[in-house]
Amino acid sequence: MEIFRPGLNFDHLLSDVVTFGGTFVTEAFTREYLEYINEEIDSLDYGQYQSGEEAKVYERHRDFRARIYDTEAPIPRLTDMVEYIGWRIRSAGVSKAYNELFYPDDVNVWRYTDQSSGIGRHRDYSHDQLLIVGVTTKGYCTLEYYGDDPENTTPKIWHAGPGSLMLLRGPGFCEHDDRPWHGVNPPLHGERVSIIIRQDIRNSQPESKKDY
Ligand SMILES: [Fe+2]
Repeated sequence: MEIFRPGLNFDHLLSDVVTFGGTFVTEAFTREYLEYINEEIDSLDYGQYQSGEEAKVYERHRDFRARIYDTEAPIPRLTDMVEYIGWRIRSAGVSKAYNELFYPDDVNVWRYTDQSSGIGRHRDYSHDQLLIVGVTTKGYCTLEYYGDDPENTTPKIWHAGPGSLMLLRGPGFCEHDDRPWHGVNPPLHGERVSIIIRQDIRNSQPESKKDY
């Protein structure tokens, strides 16, 4: 089964990441694949992966997450997807020119409920290296992209929907490693589900090392 729509070019996407700090594309994934991955995502027990203070934060926002790699329960389709995306990125010429060591090992599935307030303007953590990959599998919202200038009052607006793909620059991918500012608005209606894929430098042993 094809994961990405024909013609999706990671060299173009990664060139934009190098130049602008982030990029976004709608309908990157095939409908067939979205159906397949959503089937597994629908079966996830979001609550069971929460703990401590973090759980309280998520509860307050009525958003939930499930994590892979830190649970005994296998999430095979999502795991394969993450490994495939890592490989596609590593295989791109732009990665070979800059850094081809993107082995994602931190994956969160976020469910933004219809009561969600979204996430205000922020940068991701500096321990999340090289690239941040965001995939919307269900629902709609707008994302605000400020790039390196948090005072920019006219951010780019990206329309996230099923199959949209966002790439953000993390430290270490290219010579310019400022983390871009961005925000997530509440779902337009109903829920939105997104997968955020990262490489956390604090994990000493990346688990996703499969090449295709
Ligand atoms: Fe973020």
